[in-house]
Amino acid sequence: MDYDLTGKTIIVVGGGGYIGSHVCKAIADNGGLPVTFDNFGSGHTHAVKWGPYETVDLRDKAATLGTFTKHKDAHAVVHLASSIEVGIGEKDPAGFYENNVIGALNLLEAMRALELNNLIFSSTCATYGETNQMPLLESHIQNPFSVYGKTKLAIEQMIQSYHKAYGLSYITLRYFNASGADVSGEIGEEHEPETHLIPIALASASGLRGKMKIFGTDYDTPDGTCIRDYIHVTDIAEAHICGFKSIAKGLTQAEVNIGTGQGVSNLEILQMIERVTGRHVPYDAAPRRDGDLTRLYADPQRAKDLLGFTAQHSSLKNIIQTAWNFHSKQWNL
Ligand code: UFG
Repeated sequence: MDYDLTGKTIIVVGGGGYIGSHVCKAIADNGGLPVTFDNFGSGHTHAVKWGPYETVDLRDKAATLGTFTKHKDAHAVVHLASSIEVGIGEKDPAGFYENNVIGALNLLEAMRALELNNLIFSSTCATYGETNQMPLLESHIQNPFSVYGKTKLAIEQMIQSYHKAYGLSYITLRYFNASGADVSGEIGEEHEPETHLIPIALASASGLRGKMKIFGTDYDTPDGTCIRDYIHVTDIAEAHICGFKSIAKGLTQAEVNIGTGQGVSNLEILQMIERVTGRHVPYDAAPRRDGDLTRLYADPQRAKDLLGFTAQHSSLKNIIQTAWNFHSKQWNL
C-alpha cells in the first residue's frame, strides 16, 4: 500500500475507461472508495468493479452539479473523461472542444461551488507538439499539433487559473503512451474503434484481423518507424496514488510527465509481441498517419522528485504480456 485512503471517497470522472478503471482499482487497493462518474460513451459499466457509479455527461452543467452534490464529501476528484482519438478531433473540433473543454469547465464549476479543492487531471504528452528536444521536460514549450492536444492544453490552463483565483490544489499528469493491462486480466484496453498500436498488433497476431498497417517507415529513426514512451497503465494508476499523497503533504500545484524515459519504436513493439505470443504479426508498410510526431519520450525526473513516482511495471515485456493476457481472455483464444 502506497498511501492510506481508508474512509476517503475519490470521484473518478471517466472511471469506466481504460485508465480510469485501473485508477479505481488502485484507489480501492489503498483503502479508498472510488465513485465513478461516466457517460459511458466510450467507457464500460463492466469495468466499474471497485465502487458505485453515476451516469452523467459533463456537457450537462446542471446534471454535473447535481451529481457532484450527491458526493460533496469526497476527498478528491480525478478527471480522466475526454474524447481521445486524435484523428477524429481533426475532423470534429467542435465536438472535441465541447466534450473536453466545456465538460472540464462544468466539472471545475461544480467543484468550486461545492468547495471540492483537490484535483488530479489527466493530460498528455500531445500538449507539447513537434520538437527535437528529447527527453521532454515539463518546462518545454507547449505548442500542440492536434485538436486533441489543444483541448488538453486549454484545460491545463483553465486549471492553472482556478488555482490562482480560487485556491484549487491540482496535479496535472501528462501521460505518455498508456499500455498493458491489470495483472488479473479483468480490465484492460477496450476502445471502439481501436486505433492504438499494441491492441491492433495483438489482434493481427491472433488472426482476428488481417494484416495491420505500420504508418510510416521512412521516419528519421534507427528503423524508420515512430518512437514512443510506453508506460504500463498500472504505473499510471500508481502515479495518482502518489499524487494524493503529495497533495496531502502540501503540494498545491504541479504539472508532471508520467513516462518511463525510454523510447521504443513501432517495429520493436511488433518484435516483442512475436517474442511474447510466439505468433507472427503480419503487417504492411503504409504512409505516415496525419498528426503523428516522429519521437516522444519523457524526462521522468520531476515525477520522481515531486511525487516520489517511478515506473515499476513498464518493462516492454510486461506491457505486452499483460495486454496479451487480457486480450486472450477477452477474445476467448
Ligand atoms: N500505429 C501504426 N499502426 C496502427 C496504429 C498505430 O503504425 O494500426 C503507430 C502510430 O502511427 C504511432 C504509434 O503506432 O506511430 C503509436 O500510435 P498509437 O495510436 O498507439 O498512440 P499515439 O502515440 O498516437 O497516441 C497516444 C494516445 C493519445 C495521446 C498520444 C500522445 O493514445 O491519447 O499518445 O502522443 F495523445
